[in-house]
Amino acid sequence: MDLNLKRQKLLDALQGKIPQDVILLSLEDCAPYGGDWTRLTGKPLLVFLPKTTEQVSLILKSCNQLKIPVVPSGGRTGLSGGAVVTQSEVVLSLSRMNQMSPVDVLGRTVRVQAGAITESVHEHCAREGLLWPIDLASKGTCEVGGNLSTNAGGVRVIRYGMVRRWVSGLQIVTMNGDVIELNRGLEKNNTGYDLIQLMVGSEGTLAVITEATLKLARLPHKEHVLFFAVPDLESVSELFSRARRGPFEILAFEFFSQRCLKAVETKLHRKSKLSKSGEFYVLMEIELGPGSEPEALLEDWLSQVLEADFILDGLLAQSSAEKKEVWGLREGITESIALTNEVRKYDTSVAVTNIVGFVNEASRLFHSMNLGAELYLFGHFGDGSPHLNVVRRDTVDHKTYVEDCDRFEKELYPLIKKWGGSASSEHGVGLLKKSWVEMSRTSEEMALFRAIKTAFDPNHLLNPGKIFNLLSTG
Ligand code: MLT
Ligand code: ZN
Repeated sequence: MDLNLKRQKLLDALQGKIPQDVILLSLEDCAPYGGDWTRLTGKPLLVFLPKTTEQVSLILKSCNQLKIPVVPSGGRTGLSGGAVVTQSEVVLSLSRMNQMSPVDVLGRTVRVQAGAITESVHEHCAREGLLWPIDLASKGTCEVGGNLSTNAGGVRVIRYGMVRRWVSGLQIVTMNGDVIELNRGLEKNNTGYDLIQLMVGSEGTLAVITEATLKLARLPHKEHVLFFAVPDLESVSELFSRARRGPFEILAFEFFSQRCLKAVETKLHRKSKLSKSGEFYVLMEIELGPGSEPEALLEDWLSQVLEADFILDGLLAQSSAEKKEVWGLREGITESIALTNEVRKYDTSVAVTNIVGFVNEASRLFHSMNLGAELYLFGHFGDGSPHLNVVRRDTVDHKTYVEDCDRFEKELYPLIKKWGGSASSEHGVGLLKKSWVEMSRTSEEMALFRAIKTAFDPNHLLNPGKIFNLLSTG
């Protein structure tokens, strides 16, 4: 069917059923909804911004009847292209559905709509001394629905795990318009398949999440931020091993290379407060128990570590402003790198015991290939989740850079496999990691993926082409 005709038919089908201000029509208004932080983008047929679950249901039902594909959309901060329009789909944005119910302090849960901004959920729950412990650099923009759909990770996975641990209820709408409550917020419910866990990480390919019951933790008692410069990755690992045995709970253990720090310092127009520089830096956030004894134990631990020869320099942030400053250096990396040039991102994962071996071998591979690019290394060391960012050199044109990245990728994927890892630790698959999915899953698993997709969405209209292709290429 011709695109204009499709569009008109859909508008006619919804005429009088949903208010006019829920629909964006003009090319200009629709354009921002076609892409995400990958900078991949496409042209939506139309954009809907529903305010209620009933409107979501009506829109999906009409699209299903007219066989029009739909891309569900949140804060569009994804880095794998999971919310990108590829075939003039309709975009269904949940951003206006951002209500939050009062926190259930006794049950330690909160019910929110999918469009609630992650940071707003944090602020809402903090008033009751509670925390939805999903902490990402994009928390001021990303939305709960997107966090759930991608099983987001972030900087505190070492302490709290991924998003899938922090949800006990979902309201979903299937492509035929059915509104289904999953698990009703129960902590215990052993009555068959866990459909919540199937939805989490399904990247909008099975159904649209409209509401969620989120599980909450107590806010950390007292957080401290420490920052270190070290000469190499082995030293990062040595520090991690000391921290694991330290008199505190680790909330975050992040690392980044000298090159990353320089990019952030350039962007922020400020230097880190360390007086010596190193090949790598570690940002560590810890939680101490109440009373003065843990403070004294931390000081002892720190003075011993600072005397060790694998530490070049280190500091303990002395105020909340200083903590923020140090975090700013880590959280500014993605944006600062993106400002330098084109970036290809490899969000890898290995067992934490393998991270040094894997990253060193991947770096050697990168440098041996003489690519027209620089390697920026950073990520969640404590989770075994290094991010390899391959950034184009100014001296190289776009085409050469893309060919170089493709060459590198062909060697990197087998290396990840050799180290028993995964090519997506937390960014999901979207469009960009599909070849890895086919490569790392068995044909039996892929057949199950396709069967599950078809059970939820028989016409294959929800977020088409994401995670895997429906037709087997094998
Ligand atoms: C991060 O760790 O900062 C995020 O995963 C974003 C990124 O990898 O660029
Ligand atoms: Zn990350």
